[in-house]
Amino acid sequence: MNFLPAQGFAHELDKQDPLKSYRDQFVIDDPGLVYFDGNSLGRMPRVAQEKAKQIVEEEWGRDLIRGWNKGWWEAPARVGNKIATLIGAAVGQVLVSDTTSINLYKLVMAALALGPERKRIVTDTMNFPSDLYILQGCVTQLGNRHEIVRIGSNDKELTPDLNALAQAITEDTALVTLSHVLFKSGYLYDMKAVTELAHRKGALVLWDLSHSVGALPITLDECGVDFAIGCTYKYLNGGPGAPAFLYVNKSIQERSSSPIWGWWGQNRPFDFGLDYTPAPGVARFLAGTQPMLSLLTMEAALEPLLQAGMDSIRAKSILLTEYASFLTQSLLAPFGFSLGSPVDSAQRGSHISIRHPEGYRINRALIEEMNVIPDFREPDNIRLGFAPLYTSFVEIWEGFDRIRRVMEDKKYEKYPKQKLAVT
Ligand SMILES: Cc1ncc(COP(=O)(O)O)c(C=O)c1O
Repeated sequence: MNFLPAQGFAHELDKQDPLKSYRDQFVIDDPGLVYFDGNSLGRMPRVAQEKAKQIVEEEWGRDLIRGWNKGWWEAPARVGNKIATLIGAAVGQVLVSDTTSINLYKLVMAALALGPERKRIVTDTMNFPSDLYILQGCVTQLGNRHEIVRIGSNDKELTPDLNALAQAITEDTALVTLSHVLFKSGYLYDMKAVTELAHRKGALVLWDLSHSVGALPITLDECGVDFAIGCTYKYLNGGPGAPAFLYVNKSIQERSSSPIWGWWGQNRPFDFGLDYTPAPGVARFLAGTQPMLSLLTMEAALEPLLQAGMDSIRAKSILLTEYASFLTQSLLAPFGFSLGSPVDSAQRGSHISIRHPEGYRINRALIEEMNVIPDFREPDNIRLGFAPLYTSFVEIWEGFDRIRRVMEDKKYEKYPKQKLAVT
């Protein structure tokens, strides 16, 4: 599409947006706020707000312990099956539990146990650091018998070096684990191609879907993915600290074992037997009691996404990131900004990074005096996340115009270079 750098054009785009009515399904108390951080913490859906009240007052307050027999016990599998429809997984393969980091730990340990003779783990330097730390912890706990190979980038951390990736996956590779969408640049891996590449060498594949789930269609079963994890507080709008999810392909569930043998993953937990027998299927990857208040709130939060469908969400997401890329060039390039994300939308998730040597201080000025909320990622990335259900084109226009004003008036100069704890 040929965009124009004018507010009226943004209004036109909003008028033509088939998803425009979904914005009203979210709590938007401050209409002047430009919220570009839905890729870190999604806005609150009204239905989740109402559900949270009902859970606290009725399910917890009135039903008390009876809640476990009124749907709480089954919630990890039930909500997992709802998320499954967003990520192309048949029932019985997705479970909501714990955090993304903990789920990664469980599945990495399970994957490595499936190929004990293989010694290599392949990932990339642009992966979310927690994922790299978890891998390092697993390797240490297993007696340093594995080697982690991190492939790099050929263009300033924007996109991975795919030739290096192909070469790194050898017959000795146990596991290839990558973020489907990279947290800084928003680069989107070709899940099918990478999964096939790994499988050709007999390696298992584990995808971190944190930055893609809820933003674009994912086809785990069709791609033959072995394992996946993802978080629910970004594009799934589940709320701060909402529990994460994990996926284990049906074909390997009975051979897979969780490294944490808790009673929720036991075959008959209410027999209170003294020895562990894993529950059939993916349920064995539960360990203990789950955070019901936030799990059930997150379940409600999924409703707008399930209604809208991932194809229409992706279509709008592409238009949003294309428009923002256009505005980066037309409004911000004269101030020294460059696009830190792929130009081709087929290689991009739903956020973009704009890079500037003063990125940190510009980000602070935006938050503290311009009512714009992006986030900052080292060394010079201001990340702008666009959630198709509630980000409007006018909001993007307004956000870019305010960034331009920060630059014109050099508003960032009064902020210290020293960083706050959370960026
Ligand atoms: C790609 C990715 N993986 C893993 C995590 C860690 O998630 P958690 O803190 O919920 O364990 C995050 C957190 O932002 C993330 O962005």
